[in-house]
Amino acid sequence: MLVTKRIYPEAVEFLRDHADVDYADSDDGLPPAELLSRARGTQAVVCQLTDKFSAQVIEQLEGVRVLANVAGGFDNIEIPTATRKGIFVTNTPDVLTETTADFAFALLMAAARRVVEAHAFVHSGEWRRWTIDLLVGQDIHGKTLGIFGMGRIGQAVARRARGFSMRILYHDLQPVSAMVERELGLEFVPKEKLLAESDFVSIHVPLLPETMRLIGAAELRQMKPTAILVNTARGPVVDEAAVAEALRAGIIASAGLDVFEREPEVHPLLLELKNVVLAPHIASASVDTRRRMSMMAVSNAVAILEGRRPPNLVNTELWPDQAVGPVP
Ligand code: DGY
Repeated sequence: MLVTKRIYPEAVEFLRDHADVDYADSDDGLPPAELLSRARGTQAVVCQLTDKFSAQVIEQLEGVRVLANVAGGFDNIEIPTATRKGIFVTNTPDVLTETTADFAFALLMAAARRVVEAHAFVHSGEWRRWTIDLLVGQDIHGKTLGIFGMGRIGQAVARRARGFSMRILYHDLQPVSAMVERELGLEFVPKEKLLAESDFVSIHVPLLPETMRLIGAAELRQMKPTAILVNTARGPVVDEAAVAEALRAGIIASAGLDVFEREPEVHPLLLELKNVVLAPHIASASVDTRRRMSMMAVSNAVAILEGRRPPNLVNTELWPDQAVGPVP
């Protein structure tokens, strides 16, 4: 078993109780050639979103049966190639839903109420007096929130928005059930209506060819000049340069961004602007959640080693039915 990067210690202990572990106990990640050589002859690899398993890398894996990603997303792994090679891919959904939604809301609120600017202002020593419009921002309560992607995280964000008496529009490939719509007070709308009517737009879609650049210059122009964009999904879902330019030109008012197209690089213009709150891909980063993600990933890996279907299998076609399916 190979662990490509540092994870929580209890997860490593759990693994050591079940298998021989080659632990790359570092935050650096393994260079591709080392990753391949250390993966050779091992059945399970516990990996992270910074490990890029392209089709070319996966083709060279020998003997690996499972790639257990310590993340809800799995766009770092070329799933069709893994599936064709019979390699199981697992992820860590659910445990991060509420934590990620908390952070999306934190970014939304920080951008709307200019929390980061206010903090910098107080720190700078410039605060001399109270004035009627000092750092005025935008209300959140009673406003319209547009959510792209009404999966688990989108729904968790909607639940928070209910507490702020917001009108909630959403867009996805399919509407959710009428029951969920009723419960959360959701309105399924076309993309154009969501963009035109929302005061806040929050993105919760996975990164797929269809969602790449979901928000580009044209979409930003359809948004209100007072609108705030929040992205905690994946960087390439928005055109980062177009967002930076829209923020600079006042096409939209503000943004809260946790993810970027070429992490850890950030578009240089974003670093100069005041009307954006930036975070280093930490939406799921609470102590409890990162621990749970580590434990979940190693449990998925161990399941495969023990001939059990992993609870969080991504390429389910490799092991279709938990109850009666044959062990592949
Ligand atoms: C995920 O899990 O996909 C996040 O982006 C990192 O926690």
